[in-house]
Amino acid sequence: MIFITKTTLLFRVLIVAVLFVPFCFACKGDDVIPPIPKPGTDPVDTILNSDTISLRKVSPFPFGGALNISTLKNNTTYRNTVIKEFNSLTAENVMKMKNISLGRGQYYWTDADYLVAFAQANKMRIHGHALVWYNSTPTWITNFTGTKDDWKAILHEYITAVVGRYKGKIQSWDVLNEAILDDGTFRDCVWKQNIGIEYIDLCFQYAREADPNVLLFYNDYGHEYSSTKRTAINKLATDLIARGVPIDGLGLQMHTSITRPDADIKTAINTAASTGLKIHISEFDIRTNTAADPNLTFNATLSAAQKQKYKVAVKALFDLPANQRYGFTFWGVYDGQSWIPTEYNCPDWPLPFDNEFNRKDAYYGILAGLK
Ligand code: XIL
Repeated sequence: MIFITKTTLLFRVLIVAVLFVPFCFACKGDDVIPPIPKPGTDPVDTILNSDTISLRKVSPFPFGGALNISTLKNNTTYRNTVIKEFNSLTAENVMKMKNISLGRGQYYWTDADYLVAFAQANKMRIHGHALVWYNSTPTWITNFTGTKDDWKAILHEYITAVVGRYKGKIQSWDVLNEAILDDGTFRDCVWKQNIGIEYIDLCFQYAREADPNVLLFYNDYGHEYSSTKRTAINKLATDLIARGVPIDGLGLQMHTSITRPDADIKTAINTAASTGLKIHISEFDIRTNTAADPNLTFNATLSAAQKQKYKVAVKALFDLPANQRYGFTFWGVYDGQSWIPTEYNCPDWPLPFDNEFNRKDAYYGILAGLK
């Protein structure tokens, strides 16, 4: 009989720990969310300490918003709300290809640089949005003519330039945005036409080559309303994983409304999470004016319904394993500046802060979802 004394056992446990712990840290990019800077004694802390609650203080995963750079520069209440509540930022527009790529080898960085510097100064993470999106292709690329290799070359140049510039400063990228249609087929775009469906692999491979540590996401909408689409997205993700194409996460845009059943929201998040990838609720907003009534005003009934949807979505993310909860991002900051009224051509109030930056019922729905 083998006899193990308590001391021997303790010794063995220690040896295993010494060998195993460094290995866990070595797996970083694979299963650990990048650390969120902790509040300390910098200027940002004055704002953070001005209130006992704030999303970034109470949440175990990052909260963020899609920002408008000129509002960030010019509106102090907007800026202070962002600093107080968020620890993850997305550019609503300034990191898209149409905004950055002025011509071959010509780039406009000023606004993207501003956002990155702002995030660093305020201890926030940046989620890059988006390297390749069919709807943000500059005219010089639409008009480009060349062989398949020429097209690969311009894709490679662009991704290398952008990801390379922000290497180590941007923690994650939406590498590819909206490449799948509601019927589950691949969307047509200039990259698919000129390179073939292989362009998808290349986007992820080029991004990985430019920054070995940045987290790479596939981002899309519709998980909550189309089972065909979410199945196709999961198939794409699992195919990429199986073939060794680098992908770390799925972004679920979730532009949704108060009429969307709670079950659909939960199913969307849980289905995406079944891939094992990190999950980012990447562009969340809740429409309340579902009939597009030009005379509608925001009222208590709409507000309560909206609060419930915010709670359900936040709770569904909260209930995932910690290493899959990448973050929760609103598509905007406050009702005074949301893309929804323009998109649907009617008044609406889709975000957790009202026109004056007050916390709406939706905000308290979010807090309730974090329990
Ligand atoms: C939208 C912006 O909010 C608008 O300001 C812009 O005019 C068009 O793009 N899905 C996405 C986002 O991935 O990039 C889109 O953002 C909204 C839909």
